[in-house]
Amino acid sequence: MKAGNLKKGADIAAPKGKLGVLIAGIGGAVSTTFIAGVELVRRGLAAPVGSLTQLGTIRLGKRYERRAPMIKDFVSLAALDDLVFGGWDIYEANCFEAALFARVLRRDHLDSIRDFLKEIIPMKAVFDRRFVKNLDGSHVKDAPGLRGKLEALKADISDFKARNGVDRCVLIWCGSTEIHLKPGPIHQSIASLQKAIDENDPGIAPSMLYGLAALESGVAFINGAPNLTIDIPGMIDLADSTGTPIAGKDFKTGQTLMKTILAPGLKTRLLGLEGWYSTNILGNRDGLVLDDAESFKTKEESKLSVLEHILQPQLYPILYKNYYHKVTINYYPPRGDNKEGWDCIDIFGWLGYPMQIKVDFQCRDSILAAPLILDLVLFMDLAQRAGMSGIQEWLSFYFKSPMFKEGLYPEHDLFIQSMKLKNTLRYLMGEEQITHFGLDYYMNDEQ
Ligand SMILES: NC(=O)c1ccc[n+]([C@@H]2O[C@H](COP(=O)([O-])OP(=O)(O)OC[C@H]3O[C@@H](n4cnc5c(N)ncnc54)[C@H](O)[C@@H]3O)[C@@H](O)[C@H]2O)c1
Repeated sequence: MKAGNLKKGADIAAPKGKLGVLIAGIGGAVSTTFIAGVELVRRGLAAPVGSLTQLGTIRLGKRYERRAPMIKDFVSLAALDDLVFGGWDIYEANCFEAALFARVLRRDHLDSIRDFLKEIIPMKAVFDRRFVKNLDGSHVKDAPGLRGKLEALKADISDFKARNGVDRCVLIWCGSTEIHLKPGPIHQSIASLQKAIDENDPGIAPSMLYGLAALESGVAFINGAPNLTIDIPGMIDLADSTGTPIAGKDFKTGQTLMKTILAPGLKTRLLGLEGWYSTNILGNRDGLVLDDAESFKTKEESKLSVLEHILQPQLYPILYKNYYHKVTINYYPPRGDNKEGWDCIDIFGWLGYPMQIKVDFQCRDSILAAPLILDLVLFMDLAQRAGMSGIQEWLSFYFKSPMFKEGLYPEHDLFIQSMKLKNTLRYLMGEEQITHFGLDYYMNDEQ
């Protein structure tokens, strides 16, 4: 991002007109729960619980000023009524049928917005079964080669904009987790990516084509899955050169959310860790996809990295040098989207005496993810209007595996992430940063 491009306060363009929300994997559990949720909120039938943009406040100035506006009143965000939805899936079910299949929302909720959901019909997807072994949909594009598929996605984006009369769009990957890919030479620059597309290189995953289609169209891109997708130098350069914001990866929900709440607390109190055993049972389509070892490896890497960065064993060898960390996910159909995550945490305190913590989080995966998508879409649109391009590290709050600039390290602590997000909003609006340094309140005035 070039500092000169950054706009602040009243210079940030107002969110005029509709905002297009394009979703890769629009027929999935998370996507349909998000879309249906926005419509239920718009009709006054439910509350947007879990959404910072809709319910959050932001403290401004000194504590005695008691200024704490709603975030949505403090920064200019698109209104929910202005969101229009579209996207792609490898299954042709409309969003009503897909939401029924997902078994997340109650039938009465879905019936009350059936007319709306039925009208949202997925466009044909770009799919390659080599990258998601446990799915096999037929609603896919047959454009020739990677270049043909990329151009077809770009045409979909411009058709969607024209059809809905929208100028601004955000594209979000809520598609399945692809197999584990390591960045290679083809991912290192804009030119090498383009060459790889022309040569139909097997190292280009479908999610990368959605990423390229977005960036080449000047559309902000969010990666909700742990796939490599845009987390490669070629894409980051493209985002910078096209002035487009990117953010990822892997929504922080469920067990990892709990981990990034608990681990900072243990570290702050200098309590040691001997082991953290995490297991999950999950029965939705995501669980089915993750039942494949290669897709799970992508997820596992994302989930494992969290503790290492929070606990910083290199700085605290006595406490964290040798802890054992294990994460598993077991596909168990009866639970559907209602994941159960168990954590067995072996810690030690004063003089090395051992203690245990057990967590049993009976969560709802898509219910936790949906508000994150809403916030990300609205904040990414704000970022684009404010001239912020490339990696949006201030949105790390929403991700298990936040993207970060080369040479830095990711910030995983949920509370630091929240402070980073709010301070970015204060900065954009010309308000003082809040560091929580409070001594100034107690210093005597020396005049
Ligand atoms: N629910 C959560 O809490 C959570 C948290 C973090 C990450 N995620 C990730 O979000 C993604 C969506 O999760 P979900 O529970 O909705 O899964 P899901 O299986 O219900 O939905 C994924 C959808 O993507 C579609 N899809 C797969 N490949 C595609 C392609 N190439 N193009 C277009 N569509 C494609 C599938 O057909 C499916 O409808 C997954 O990658 C998951 O790992 C979910």
